[in-house]
Amino acid sequence: MKKILITGGAGFIGSHVVRLFVEKYPDYEIINLDKLTYAGNLLNLTDIEQSANYRFIKGDITDTRFIRELFQVENPDAVIHLAAESHVDRSISNPMEFVMTNVIGTVSLLNAAKECWQGNYDRHRFYHVSTDEVYGALGETGMFTENTAYDPHSPYSASKASSDHFVRAYHDTYGLDVVISNCSNNYGSHHFPEKLIPLAINNIKNNKPVPVYGKGENVRDWLWVEDHARAIDTIFHQAKAGDTYNIGGHNEWKNIDLIHLLCRIMDEKLGRTAGESAALITYVTDRAGHDLRYAIDSSKLQNDLDWVPSLQFEEGLKKTVNWYLENQEWLENVTSGHYQDYYKQQYEYNEQ
Ligand code: NAD
Ligand code: TYD
Repeated sequence: MKKILITGGAGFIGSHVVRLFVEKYPDYEIINLDKLTYAGNLLNLTDIEQSANYRFIKGDITDTRFIRELFQVENPDAVIHLAAESHVDRSISNPMEFVMTNVIGTVSLLNAAKECWQGNYDRHRFYHVSTDEVYGALGETGMFTENTAYDPHSPYSASKASSDHFVRAYHDTYGLDVVISNCSNNYGSHHFPEKLIPLAINNIKNNKPVPVYGKGENVRDWLWVEDHARAIDTIFHQAKAGDTYNIGGHNEWKNIDLIHLLCRIMDEKLGRTAGESAALITYVTDRAGHDLRYAIDSSKLQNDLDWVPSLQFEEGLKKTVNWYLENQEWLENVTSGHYQDYYKQQYEYNEQ
């Protein structure tokens, strides 16, 4: 039996990774460690929370004493680390929180793993989930490869770059078995409606303005979140110690083109006349230091480990829209803040 500690499992990507592992590996024990910040939502996991191979622990990765004790008590075989502050706009207004969780939190986990697994590093793995934003911004052409030099611009990407460096330093210095993956922008169900796609869906549904930063010319490379979770599963089980993989869907979209596609889908789904949703598009002041373009070359992952994305973008976007329209209660709980009452009821005994 393998015991895997997944951090940030109540968040957007983490909940998909937890679900995949709980369902695919009934003989693994999956522990979801999450602080339940504004981005952590246990309603994301109601379908699997009763599974015999799943447990939730509420905790903060920056609390070094708690993390050390957790490793001593649980002695996990491996860590898949997703817990992070993840929103670029929030990092611009509050960078320190990003340093605390993304840098200090990651080092706190590395230290606990180093101490707990000493003498047995070859039988344990620390998998760090990171972003393509560490590579900086591209011009009109080119793609990020695993050899692209780090050049982060936002406080978010600077904190993720720093955490990546620490993870590699623990491999090079102490011999910890680490793996890192750097993924492009994800989309899909359970995405917190502060990020572009779920925010736009929610605003279009409610006839509110859809804010597009600057001229909407920035390009992002979008990947279906369940394809990311599958890639993590593949890399976790097959990568060599110390290796890095880029993950992406070869799916570049200018923000404004993406929003027009989404508006067309929403018009169809909501029975509106063509162009009704697009009338909500509102150009707003650009994000400070806004990276122009991201594009991921994931050929190493495709060639070495046989992973390919499963969904075409338009199909994925339609599935995403359907999910949000069919899960109004989830959306209302999130936008009203009521989702936080759920864990208070369920996990009261964990509160100090
Ligand atoms: P998210 O914001 O939806 O979820 C983050 C989770 O981490 C939440 O459940 C939150 O409660 C938890 N968390 C935050 N601080 C914590 C702390 N101090 N201790 C314990 N738990 C804490 O983020 P996401 O979009 O699911 O991203 C997950 C990971 O994937 C992050 O490391 C992010 O950098 C990376 N990533 C995200 C994307 C993307 O498009 N969203 C792309 C590439 C990589
Ligand atoms: P976001 O979803 O925040 O992801 P990231 O900043 O990590 O790429 O933003 C995706 C793109 O959409 C990015 O270029 C910023 C832009 N954007 C808007 O134009 N309007 C918005 O309201 C948001 C949240 C983002």
